[in-house]
Order: sequence, then C-alpha cells, then structure tokens
Amino acid sequence: MAMLENKTAIVTGAAQGIGQAVAKLFADKGANVVAVDENPAISEASGVVGLRADVSQRAEVEQVVATTVERFGAIDILVNNAAHWRQTPVTSSWEQALEDWDYIMDTNLKGVLMLSRACVPHLKQGGGNIINMSAYYVLPAKSPGTNSPMTDLYNASKWALNGFTDAWANQLAEHGVTVNAICMGATDTPMLRGAFPNGELPPEFAATVMKSEQIAQLALDIIEDGRTGENIGAWAGEPVTLPPRQPAYKRITG
Ligand SMILES: NC(=O)c1ccc[n+]([C@@H]2O[C@H](COP(=O)([O-])OP(=O)(O)OC[C@H]3O[C@@H](n4cnc5c(N)ncnc54)[C@H](O)[C@@H]3O)[C@@H](O)[C@H]2O)c1
Repeated sequence: MAMLENKTAIVTGAAQGIGQAVAKLFADKGANVVAVDENPAISEASGVVGLRADVSQRAEVEQVVATTVERFGAIDILVNNAAHWRQTPVTSSWEQALEDWDYIMDTNLKGVLMLSRACVPHLKQGGGNIINMSAYYVLPAKSPGTNSPMTDLYNASKWALNGFTDAWANQLAEHGVTVNAICMGATDTPMLRGAFPNGELPPEFAATVMKSEQIAQLALDIIEDGRTGENIGAWAGEPVTLPPRQPAYKRITG
C-alpha cells in the first residue's frame, strides 16, 4: 500500500514552489491532497484538489477545513507552507513597516494559527501531522555570517513559527499529533528568484540551492519517522536528509 494511502493532507501555498512539490509528492504517495492557494492558478493533478483561499482570512480558512472534511471525511496532515516575503529595512517609513507587518504576519503567523486551530479537532480524532515551513535563520549558524538575514519582519515571523511548533508539539502529544518545522535555506522557487534582479540566480549560488522536491521528500520523511517537536534544518549546498532525533532539551537541530 502506498505510504499515504487513505490519508488526507491540506497543503497551503501549493500553486508553486515548495508547496506544489509537497502536494505532488503526497498525492503520488496515495494521499488525497487539498492544495490551497490565494493564487487561483492552482494546478489540479491526479489526487490533488485545488482550492482558492487566502489563509489570512478566517472565513476562508474555515471554508477550506469544512470543504476538506465534507469531501474526504477527515484531515490527517497539515502543511503550513504559504508565506509572504518582503524586505523591510529598519530605516523604511513607518507606513511601509506597518503595512509590511500586516502583509507578512497575517499570512505567515495568523494564517498558520487559524488553519491549525481549525484542523486540530479533526487531527485529534486519529493522530496526524503538522509541518510548518520555516527558515534556517532560527538555527545555530554553521559558520560565521551564514545566518545574517536582511529581512527583519519575515525573519521574526519564522522565529515565532518555531515557537508555535514547540508549544503545539507539547500540547498535542497526548493526542498522537506530531508537530515539526522544516527550517530551510535557499531553495529554488519563485519566492527565492523574486529576490534577485530579473529572477536570475547568480551561477555559483544556483549551484548550491536546494530543489523544492528535496524539501517535499524531507517532509514525507518526517511524517514517516514519527518524531515531534523538532525544528529541522535543511541547508543549501549539503545533502538534504533527516538528522538523528534530538532530545527534548535540544530541539533546534542543524
Ligand atoms: N525558497 C526559499 O529559499 C525558502 C527559504 C526559507 C523558507 N522558505 C519557506 O518555504 C515556504 C514556501 O516558499 P516558496 O519559496 O515555495 O514560496 P513561493 O512564494 O514561491 O510560493 C508561496 C505560495 O504561497 C501562496 N500564498 C502566499 N500567501 C498566501 C495566503 N495568504 N493564502 C494562500 N496562499 C498564499 C503564494 O500564492 C504562492 O503560491 C514558505 O513558508 C517560505 O517562507 C522558502
């Protein structure tokens, strides 16, 4: 039997990039996948149902969960992947900073909070898995200067996401629900390319960045492994593999 046979997964931000790769892999492994995106161009593939929704809007989040349960009867996996990225220098105008705050936090945090809360009652019925897509900034640097983000609000949203990951893993352990984060470095997606002029990655950098499919495979490996409460690193330029399980006092792994 395929590994995710009879499982139902909600994947957010699934119209492109990492979310799209996760949706495809999970569907290939037998899951019913509800691919959610604010962009209506969500591709429907075999096993993937596309739903247009903005995860920063409570009514739309509740509709996603209601539609999923109505259609598939359960929710087993939630991948909180949708995120907004913007560079907001600390010297930018107040108006810009506060607009960016809402733009970033409403999706990267409030959206995760709302969709997870809406899914938890369904996950609790039969165990399940939440995976939050975070960023490598929250991990100990591998060498000097390698964790120096230019993006303060986006960076802060990912630190907070890891806080959710820790707390929810503890709260949901008794229900058999695992909660982990993938804290990744540069991965070749439209978001990453959007940070470079004309979307062109410098050749030396392009040779090191990860592929969305590698992150998708790591998400699958985490679910299969069954661990919980870990912020798991995936580093550009290194093999993308599941590290050994960490003890509870050392849950930020590199
Ligand atoms: N690509 C990288 O180098 C990198 C590095 C670290 C972390 N990440 C994280 O990985 C995840 C996926 O990133 P990506 O590079 O594939 O991004 P991407 O921008 O290429 O794709 C993100 C998708 O999310 C959707 N989305 C954004 N806000 C939404 C909302 N409110 N409601 C519904 N859909 C929404 C977008 O329409 C888009 O399709 C994000 O959480 C990102 O922060 C990416």
